Amino acid sequence: MEDRIISANLMMEDQTVELSLRPRYLNEYIGQTQAKDNLKVYIEAAKLRGDALDHVLLYGPPGLGKTTLSNIIANELGVNIRTTSGPAIERPGDLAAILTNLQHGDVLFIDEIHRLHRTVEEVLYPAMEDYALDIIIGKGPSARSVRLDLPSFTLVGATTRAGLLSAPLRDRFGVVSRLEYYTVAELTYIVTRTADILQVAIHEEAAEEIGKRSRGTPRIANRLLKRLRDFAQVRGDGIITLDIARAALKLIQVDDLGLDQIDHKMLQAIITSFKGGPVGLDTIAATIGEESQTIEDVYEPYLLQIGFLQRTPRGRMVTAHAYRHLGLTPPEA
Ligand SMILES: Nc1ncnc2c1ncn2[C@@H]1O[C@H](COP(=O)(O)OP(=O)(O)OP(=O)(O)O)[C@@H](O)[C@H]1O
Ligand SMILES: [Mg+2]
Repeated sequence: MEDRIISANLMMEDQTVELSLRPRYLNEYIGQTQAKDNLKVYIEAAKLRGDALDHVLLYGPPGLGKTTLSNIIANELGVNIRTTSGPAIERPGDLAAILTNLQHGDVLFIDEIHRLHRTVEEVLYPAMEDYALDIIIGKGPSARSVRLDLPSFTLVGATTRAGLLSAPLRDRFGVVSRLEYYTVAELTYIVTRTADILQVAIHEEAAEEIGKRSRGTPRIANRLLKRLRDFAQVRGDGIITLDIARAALKLIQVDDLGLDQIDHKMLQAIITSFKGGPVGLDTIAATIGEESQTIEDVYEPYLLQIGFLQRTPRGRMVTAHAYRHLGLTPPEA
């Protein structure tokens, strides 16, 4: 599963190049109009007042640009960004050390914020609310709590699982933005931009073909472009034409809508073994030999998004669209 070319998760091969492809300012950040427009206003206002920007929570599926946007926020504000992640902060003291080292207005970016330890999260509450740290000095009956002032800062939290955030934490974010899947036009633009940066020659129709097959996700679009570049160098003269793009995508088994063998296998399994559903998640998991959690987090979001799967109270159902895409006749309603 980790090796799926259309996985939205960060893979080894993405890492070296992602940094150079990351847009650095809002005007280079394509799409996500609503999140962007909102942030523009708040950033402008914070700068005018000389205050720290309100705390920002970014949520949405992997690879849509949460980390990128966090860095952009810091760039636009003209402040430093300190990056960490929920599981990396093991003890309250670790967080206290990070907080006391911030400067006025800085951005603290906590990725995977839904995985913060409870005890660490409690330190964060007064820090977010009052820019203060409550520390206990001494032990036993003589112990006392001392309040330490912190510089004002902006916490930017990112998560793929907003539902797992505790209510008190969620409530402390002034700006909450959900990132959406990108349109084909936006992805086509992103592919063109990336091709420019990597100095890859690509025809417009080929960029669009990649856009269509990238599952609404810039990370996948960039990865497909790199694969096709290799293909064009070996099989052609280095230019990614529509023909080359189609041939390569066929070879790496990414279909017209960006589905791969695993998507096909899961849909087929629900169709052949359960007449298209409804069937429970755990049953699907057992049938295709995967974990329910993986199906829920990784396989199914995009299939739900494009209307190939439906969630019903009695389980998952394959839709008529999916039948037709697989070349099958949907059952009578
Ligand atoms: N709006 C955008 N415009 C152009 N490129 C983008 C945009 N959003 C993301 N990208 C590209 O997609 C890549 C992945 O984005 P990013 O790492 O920010 O995603 P993420 O949401 O943080 O993913 P994860 O959930 O895995 O942490 C970036 O390196 C960047 O090149
Ligand atoms: Mg990220």
